[in-house]
Amino acid sequence: MTDFDPTIPSTTESGAPRESDAHSLSVGPDGPLMLHDVALVEKLARFDRERVPERSPHAKGSGAFGELEITEDVSQYTKADLFQPGRKTPMLLRFSTVAGELGSPDTWRDVRGFSMKFYTQQGNYDLVGNNTPVFFVRDPMKFPDFIHSQKRTPASGLRDNTMQWDFWTNSPESAHQVTYLMGDRGLPKSWRHMNGYGSHTYMWVNESGEKFWIKYHFHTDQGMEYLSNEEADRLAGVDGDYHRRDLFESIARGEFPSWTVSVQVIPYEEAKNYRFNIFDLTKTVSKKDYPLIKVGTMTLNRNPRNHFAQIEQAAFSPSNTVPGIGLSPDKMLLGRSFSYPDAQRHRIGTNFNQLPVNQPIVPTNSYDKEGFMEFLHSGDAPVYAPNSYGRAYQDEQGPVDNGWEADGELVRAAYSLHAEDGDFVQPGILVREVFDDADRDRLVETVSGGLSTVEEPVLSHAIQYWKNIDQTTGERIEKAIGTSAADDQPGGDPLDA
Ligand code: HEM
Repeated sequence: MTDFDPTIPSTTESGAPRESDAHSLSVGPDGPLMLHDVALVEKLARFDRERVPERSPHAKGSGAFGELEITEDVSQYTKADLFQPGRKTPMLLRFSTVAGELGSPDTWRDVRGFSMKFYTQQGNYDLVGNNTPVFFVRDPMKFPDFIHSQKRTPASGLRDNTMQWDFWTNSPESAHQVTYLMGDRGLPKSWRHMNGYGSHTYMWVNESGEKFWIKYHFHTDQGMEYLSNEEADRLAGVDGDYHRRDLFESIARGEFPSWTVSVQVIPYEEAKNYRFNIFDLTKTVSKKDYPLIKVGTMTLNRNPRNHFAQIEQAAFSPSNTVPGIGLSPDKMLLGRSFSYPDAQRHRIGTNFNQLPVNQPIVPTNSYDKEGFMEFLHSGDAPVYAPNSYGRAYQDEQGPVDNGWEADGELVRAAYSLHAEDGDFVQPGILVREVFDDADRDRLVETVSGGLSTVEEPVLSHAIQYWKNIDQTTGERIEKAIGTSAADDQPGGDPLDA
C-alpha cells in the first residue's frame, strides 16, 4: 500500500487536524457525549452514507484494467478509431453474476456479465455483454419481469425455482439462453476461462459510409473451463469471492488473461432475408454463414487500486458509442440504451461521468450542467447553444451515418419471423449438435436437480418446455424427476401456431 503519505496527520474532511481517532469527547471519562464533537459526528454521518445502491441486476462482480490491441485490418468495415490497425486502446472490463446481490457467491449457476469500457480517442465506447451469445427475452418490456423472477419472492424473500421456471416456461423465447445456462456455461471455472459476447447485432460504418451488421466474439486464450455442480456448491460455501479472488491474484502474479477479439460481419442488405432475424437477441448467427474475422487481442494487466472507486462506481452503457459504430433495430438494445445511464444517475449520481473511472480521455464540451456533486464545470463559458461567443455547438441535419430505414405504423408486435425463427429451433440444435453425450448427461442432471423443488403446474410446463427443445432430453428429464408432464405448454412456438 503506497497511496498515502505517512507524515500527514489524520484530519477532518475540512482539513483540520483531528485530536483523536479513538476517543469521543465526553463530560468526564464516564459522562455523556457532546454534539459539538465534530470529528465524531462527521465520522458517524459519513459511515451512515458509505453504501450506494447496488446495481439492480449484475450487483456482484469485479474487474480489471487492460488494453485492446488491433492486430488485423478491419478498416474496410469501420472507421472507428479504436479498431484501426495497430491501435492500442486502454480499457476496463467488469465481470459479474446477474441475479445475486452484492455479497452473493460467485459460483452460483448464472449467466456472467462481460462489460467493457474502451477509453478511445473519440470518447468512451462501451460493450456490455455476457458470456453467452443470446438472451432470455427479446423485448425490453419483459426485462424487469425476467429479473424479478430470478431474484426473491415478495413474501419469503427467498429465491425460488418455481418462480424462475414459471417465467421461463411462459416465455418460450427464453429456451435458447436457458439451455446455455443449464449447460456448462452456467458454471465457468473462473472469469478468465470464459468467452464474452456482444450478444446483440451492432452496426459498423466505414469511411465511405458503407454499413455492416456486426456480432462481437471474445474467445478466452486461457481455454474454456467449467466447474461441476458439486464443486461450485462447495466453493460457494468456502469462498463466496472465488472468481473475484482468482482474477485479482492472477493479475497480481503477473499472469495476464487475454481474449482473441473477432467479429462476424453481415452485409447490410443480407439481414432482410437471412434465415434468422439477426435483431432477435434470442438467436445466434451461424458461423458457417458468416465466419469469424479476427480483429485483435484484449489483455487485462492492471488491478484496480480501489474497488469502490474503480469497479463499484464504474458505469457501463450500451448507449456509449463512437463514430463508426451504431446500434441496431434490436429492441432490447434500444431499451438498454435508455436504462443504463438512467440507472447510473440514480445509483451513483447525476454527475457519474465526471468520476475518473468513467471520464473519457478526450476533452468533453457538453451543455449539460450542475446537479449534485458537479466538479468538472465549464467556468464562465456560455451555458446555452447556439451562442455568439465561440463555444462550439453542432447542428447536423439529414440522415445519420449509423442509422437504418424504419417505416410503418406504430404497433405493439413480435418481430417479423424469418424462415427458421422458431423459439425451439436453435436450442434444439445446441442440445443435439453442439453438446456431446457427456454435456447432455450433465444438462439432464442439472435441470432435473433444479426442477426437484418446482411445484405444479409449473413443473409440467417445464417438462414440456424441454420436450419442445429436444424430445429425448425432455423425456430423460421427466424420467429423472419421476413425473409425467401435462401437454398444455403455455406460450408455444410461434412457428407451430
Ligand atoms: C447491468 C438493465 C439487458 C448485460 C444492468 C443494469 C441495468 C440493466 C439497469 C445496472 C446498470 C448500473 O447500475 O450500472 C437492462 C435492461 C435490459 C438489459 C433494461 C433489457 C432491455 C441486458 C442484456 C445483457 C445485459 C441483453 C447482455 C447481453 C448487463 C451487464 C450488466 C448489466 C453485463 C453489468 C454492467 C456492469 O458491469 O456494471 N442492466 N439490461 N443486460 N446488464 Fe443489463
